[in-house]
Amino acid sequence: MIKQGKIVIIGASNVGSAILNKITDFQLASEIALIDLNEDKAAGEALDASHATSCIYSTNINVHAGTYEDCQDAAIIIITAGPSIRPGETPDRLILAKTNTKIMGSIMTEIMKYTKEAMIIAITNPLDVATHYISTHFDYPREKIVGTGTMLETFRFRRILANHYHVDPKNIHGYILGEHGNSAFPAWSTVNIAGMPLEHLDDCFNFSDKIDYKAIEDEIVQVAYDIINLKGWTNTGISMVACRFIKSIIYDEHTILPMSAVLEGEYGLHDVALSIPRMLCAEGVVKSFEVKLTDKERQLLLTSADSVKNALNGCK
Ligand code: 2OP
Repeated sequence: MIKQGKIVIIGASNVGSAILNKITDFQLASEIALIDLNEDKAAGEALDASHATSCIYSTNINVHAGTYEDCQDAAIIIITAGPSIRPGETPDRLILAKTNTKIMGSIMTEIMKYTKEAMIIAITNPLDVATHYISTHFDYPREKIVGTGTMLETFRFRRILANHYHVDPKNIHGYILGEHGNSAFPAWSTVNIAGMPLEHLDDCFNFSDKIDYKAIEDEIVQVAYDIINLKGWTNTGISMVACRFIKSIIYDEHTILPMSAVLEGEYGLHDVALSIPRMLCAEGVVKSFEVKLTDKERQLLLTSADSVKNALNGCK
């Protein structure tokens, strides 16, 4: 029997532990089990977080180190395990494809022993390769697997544009699509601020310094590597994305966000996972939307598909 408030996090390193802390701070679970090959690390992070619960509003969150058996009654499983890009390494998440698909294989084999009912949120990079791998190599319901994908780039994009126009990022609408990685791109044709279309923004905000589209496109991709080179890893942004997804699931919000899953003919693409706008709710990913794109944006999506497919082929 599923415990609706139970979340399992696989991987207790920088990303897993940041997600654990955000989930407890935001009180998005009543029980959290943390699994890591390094059992001491999982136990230490869980112990630390469990003591912190005494000073939040809901003090009855059961945080503990776990085993795969915890998946049996979990509502949500978050996969963060596997190495990440390190400072100074080639700035491309796709170089992790071979190593991390192997790790995804062993994790999914364990999960499948206990459940096919939990919603799985994939976070391990390369995100789209990992999402494709776990969706296609295991008999797990497809709608219950989602990759965080370009939601992270979309949050970053909102911040960049919000800084430019001095406006609340929540007023910024529009999607970054494609690969969570170097070929992610803003679908500029979907962007507006509080209903004001892109081509009128500079006028609406009385801006004389014109927006530099290319600089923004570059920054969306580069910011992750800047963070990695400065602090060694990224974890804060992705933990906010994880919480956004969890909230959509537990509150059955039917939220439309860019997220990764295997394409089934959208934009003429098959057999590759990429982010496009999809609807997330308690049942999982229930709908995908083929929002209208310009020819150039469609081409960028195809380029993203090619780059993820190349990485997938390299794993065979
Ligand atoms: C990020 O974009 C590295 O995928 C990670 O923060």
